[in-house]
Amino acid sequence: MSGREYIVCVDDEAIILHSLKHELKSDPFFGDISVELAESGRRALDLVREILADGGRIPVLVSDQRMPVMQGDAFLMEAHALVPDALKILLTGFADLSAVVALVNHDVLYRYLSKPWNRHDLVLTIKTAVTAARQKLLIEEQACRIRHLTLAMVSTLESANLVFDEDTGRHIMRIAQLSAHIARSAGLDGDLVDRIRLYAPLHDIGKVGVRKDILQKPSALDPEEFAQVKEHVRIGHRIIDNEEIDPVAKNIVLYHHEKWAGGGYLSGLSGEGIPVEARVVSIADVLDALTNERVYKAPMPLADALAVVRTERGASFDPALVDALLANMPPVASYGDLMAALD
Ligand SMILES: [Fe+2]
Repeated sequence: MSGREYIVCVDDEAIILHSLKHELKSDPFFGDISVELAESGRRALDLVREILADGGRIPVLVSDQRMPVMQGDAFLMEAHALVPDALKILLTGFADLSAVVALVNHDVLYRYLSKPWNRHDLVLTIKTAVTAARQKLLIEEQACRIRHLTLAMVSTLESANLVFDEDTGRHIMRIAQLSAHIARSAGLDGDLVDRIRLYAPLHDIGKVGVRKDILQKPSALDPEEFAQVKEHVRIGHRIIDNEEIDPVAKNIVLYHHEKWAGGGYLSGLSGEGIPVEARVVSIADVLDALTNERVYKAPMPLADALAVVRTERGASFDPALVDALLANMPPVASYGDLMAALD
């Protein structure tokens, strides 16, 4: 973790603010944390912006409810937009229940404490909040590292494939962006959209196990050669068949050549029997392949490629996903412009 930590406290009464700071600073836990004071919500918002601009982190915000001009709930709502991950604590009397209810319902509030506070409760609550915020940040940093490692792994495997003459990194980004766009357009859950974006580029890793002269053959494949190409699905699955690997990644690798109406390979699944992540990537894979040059074919214009996708609605592709893609297509003339629009 980097950046100095700050706790920002807001109260219109200076004496309360200083007593709050004193309570915290008397506990060694807060030794390395800077406790900043503001006498109004506006001043506190400025303070938050200054701290963030300076590279600081704000694990916890503490605000009084009853203040002139901007009340505590209004301040915490605005602050939430600036620092969504900071845990917010409201100091309030029983008469302010409606403010507490509104903040809880907006998923903004971490805890509320009644005034006058109990010293032990106050220090323990803020300490617990700081610890929880630090743990959340660590988890996010680890997730970020996993994402980078996965992308590095995909890049390495794709480079090993030596299938594409173009820049491997761009191919990976296109499949990731397009798959995420289709998934998002279809209203899939945000977490699943992120995982599809992350793992979609893995779909063809099994091609490392297919002879390069077959993958790069400029003419039609004979049945024996096509049977070998189909094996990339099984080989890919074997490469990532580890219990630590996300099932979303495995499903994409194993099922991205299945067809909605059946008759795809290798498992011969159909309809919703095909995991949705594989149904998404199969559309992105075909659209990307059609619109880009390969050793055996010229690139197809975007409009023609979309017409192919539309024709395959209900045959190769999930009709709902095709509809979602076509309904959310930015007004672009080329595949390159589409990628730029999805950035
Ligand atoms: Fe494939």
